[in-house]
Amino acid sequence: MPSSAVLPANDLPAALESVLVSEADIKNRLRKLGAEIAALYGDQEITVVAVINGAILFTADLLRHIDNPVRLDCIRVSSYRNETKSTGKPQVLGHLSLDLANRHVLLIDDILDTGKTLSLIVGMIKKLQPASVRTCVLLDKRGRREVEFEADFVGFQIPDKFVVGYGLDYAERYRNLPCIGVLKSHLQNPPEWA
Ligand code: IMP
Ligand code: MG
Repeated sequence: MPSSAVLPANDLPAALESVLVSEADIKNRLRKLGAEIAALYGDQEITVVAVINGAILFTADLLRHIDNPVRLDCIRVSSYRNETKSTGKPQVLGHLSLDLANRHVLLIDDILDTGKTLSLIVGMIKKLQPASVRTCVLLDKRGRREVEFEADFVGFQIPDKFVVGYGLDYAERYRNLPCIGVLKSHLQNPPEWA
């Protein structure tokens, strides 16, 4: 599993200083992750809860590799990030529209960082009495954990660097980059965004 990859200059999006996970790495890993998930659930139906906005691209691509019956819902969490650091407490915004009681729930997020977001949502889901709750994240920055939390399925372990692309944002930008990498430092807080 690559934690860093050096790409030819013409494959490096202009906003990025370096690429940590290439588009090809993502494609290959998602195929395997989808197969692992499908194997674990057997022929059971899965109720997927995606944490938006960050998990939108990952969820859309991953679900194409899972052939179980799937129901899909989304949950939004208030941003508690100040620039590139977590501050305060996350809060769940709005409501789920699907009933989770007696269902096998798979919660999907883009990245596991301090662990606060997923532990909050898992706690909330458990109160709804699902048959099971598992979690799946594309990226895991294990070194940054502030609350104890491990995901059941992880795409890539990455070092403690602030990353963007493939759903991950900086101030809502860069979610559409096809790969994941470190943003150039002069693009953090540019004056034209004020
Ligand atoms: P946690 O609650 O600290 O685990 O943070 C999870 C949330 O913080 C993720 O869903 C992301 O929205 C955001 N986040 C954490 N690290 C990064 C990063 O490197 N880039 C972009 N967003 C991040
Ligand atoms: Mg997020």
